[in-house]
Amino acid sequence: MNTVIEAKNLTKTYGKKATAFTALKDINLKIYEGESVAIVGKSGSGKSTLMHLLALLDTPTKGTVLVDGKDSTKLSTRDLNKLRNERFGFVFQQFFMNTKDTVLENVLLPLKIARKSRKERKVLANSALKIVDLDSKARNKATDLSGGQKQRVCIARAIVNNPKIIFADEPTGNLDSATGDKITDLLFDLNENQGVTLIIVTHDEDLAKLCNRIIRISDGKIISDQTVRKDSKAKASARHEAEAARVKKANEKKGGRK
Ligand SMILES: Nc1ncnc2c1ncn2[C@@H]1O[C@H](COP(=O)(O)OP(=O)(O)OP(=O)(O)O)[C@@H](O)[C@H]1O
Ligand SMILES: [Mg+2]
Repeated sequence: MNTVIEAKNLTKTYGKKATAFTALKDINLKIYEGESVAIVGKSGSGKSTLMHLLALLDTPTKGTVLVDGKDSTKLSTRDLNKLRNERFGFVFQQFFMNTKDTVLENVLLPLKIARKSRKERKVLANSALKIVDLDSKARNKATDLSGGQKQRVCIARAIVNNPKIIFADEPTGNLDSATGDKITDLLFDLNENQGVTLIIVTHDEDLAKLCNRIIRISDGKIISDQTVRKDSKAKASARHEAEAARVKKANEKKGGRK
């Protein structure tokens, strides 16, 4: 199996002197091509910090991240941006969208950065919007969409450039279970059918169970790292179980409110 990302002795300290806080402590891990990895842990344990470092969106205080064996700290800013834009897709908690722009413009952005031709941009962006079932909203301003729709625009933008790795931070957070399931299905479909490597930060144990690897972190350290080999059948049954659990939870909530 090819290693796509390797973290070596990653440490991240925020702030200085009296206010310094070390959010990640000497993390070492390898992520292999085609894996689906869940990063789980309590609020404040360092999940998003780790994700941002692995996705080269932030720089570590110590240690390094290798992408395809190349040391990211040795890349120029230009090469780093190019690598991120060509290889990575991001689905984040905070939407990171240009809300004044249209849905289509938001999805076109990575293609513009990649200098794709106008014609190719249009074809790719429209097909990504179709996948997330938002082609009818292409000309709407992003600000006018619901939370779940915004999340789907982010997925369209994340997949439009055919990324090798998708980083998702709480992709189903704040969504109703039906929309959450749809987004989950989309992500795992890309993983299973297109070989996209998935790295998902989540509080949701049911979502984590769908991944073939679960990394648990606590106080900035990895406390367990389990890989479960799953064939498609086992995955389908895990997804079925997760959906049943979500429905049960939703029903219990409803019952509790009466
Ligand atoms: N920019 C920052 N400056 C100072 N401290 C920070 C900064 N970003 C994060 N931290 C701290 O680092 C720790 C880890 O934060 P992180 O965002 O990685 O947690 P998390 O596991 O993603 O939590 P959540 O589940 O709530 O999103 C927290 O204690 C947080 O307060
Ligand atoms: Mg977080």
